[in-house]
Amino acid sequence: MTSCNTILLNGNLPESIQEAAKILNNKGLVAFPTETVYGLGANALDEEAAAKIYEAKGRPSDNPLIVHIADIDAVYTLASEVPENAVLLMEAFWPGPLTIILPKVGIVPDGTTGGLDTIAIRMPSHPVALELIRESGLYIAAPSANSSGRPSPTLASHVMEDMDGRIEAVIDGGAVGIGIESTIVDLTGDIPTILRPGFITKSMLEAIVGEVAIDPALVEPDPNLRPKAPGMKYTHYAPKGQLTIVEGHNGVAEKINSLAQEKASQGYTVAVITTRENASAYDCPYVLVAGERSHGETIAANLYAVLRQCDDLGCDYIYSEAFGDSELGGAIMNRLLKAAGHRVINV
Ligand code: TXA
Ligand code: MG
Repeated sequence: MTSCNTILLNGNLPESIQEAAKILNNKGLVAFPTETVYGLGANALDEEAAAKIYEAKGRPSDNPLIVHIADIDAVYTLASEVPENAVLLMEAFWPGPLTIILPKVGIVPDGTTGGLDTIAIRMPSHPVALELIRESGLYIAAPSANSSGRPSPTLASHVMEDMDGRIEAVIDGGAVGIGIESTIVDLTGDIPTILRPGFITKSMLEAIVGEVAIDPALVEPDPNLRPKAPGMKYTHYAPKGQLTIVEGHNGVAEKINSLAQEKASQGYTVAVITTRENASAYDCPYVLVAGERSHGETIAANLYAVLRQCDDLGCDYIYSEAFGDSELGGAIMNRLLKAAGHRVINV
């Protein structure tokens, strides 16, 4: 790993975007804000530049990258086939938190697509991301800008925690809006299939293209089912302590309090993850409020920051409520269950 002096660029200044665009054109790495999470960008059509992303993140080389574009025309340059459903979804949701999978053309290096003959493409809506793509004149390959296995970054400071000294620059655009990664939809088969849930929900997609399927590997954790998005097989987003989800209609707080007290009495550092509505039910020293249960988008926006906070506090054990009840509940629980290694207690 080559080490470098990572510069923090102010996302409000046009000079910052110009500087970052120059770095990308010299095969360098720049982290930048998107509306979902911070991305770690490199020139998507340059194998050598894309390879640096894997090195900086410690990412398995079979896990392909998403290519970010600023103009729908780019899809016709990068994909060999653009079906009607793709046109409808791009028109409905771009720029925005939707990634589509299409068959790729030869100019897209295997290093960007993890050796797959398909490509993941997304047009982000964050103005800094769009300006950076336009100013650089490139297609930008960008995974989330965390070290592999850590929660995705929702602030420039999270990127610095993981990437300082490993990448040329971070553009600081403040806190991202959505907080969980884009919805991924595979459009290479007959029925559009969700490979990763996100802010764009199944019913929003169905309103545009009719029937939509969900990758069966997402529904049940089954070692025999291989997710179609290679990245979904890794235990992602995990805090260093052991996270357990406690779920049920009644008695969740009582159960969490008793589990937390037991661990605390053994000398461990313990945190509880809850919502504003329920926070007063806990008597643990670290009660972390992810958001408001009545507004699922606030939980999505804070979830990764709260998981990182557990690491900062040195937590050995973390107990979380389940947050499946909002429109975004499926996407939130997909991340939380992975962070917990599917450790769930039902009360
Ligand atoms: O919101 C987002 O999508 C963020 C921001 C930065 O745009 N990016 C992001 O990238 O989440 P990453 O690398 O953390 O996740 C990309 C996911 C992985 O699970 C990967 O396996 C999947 O997309 N993927 C990429 N190309 C694919 C392909 N051709 N077929 C199936 N899955 C693919
Ligand atoms: Mg990621």
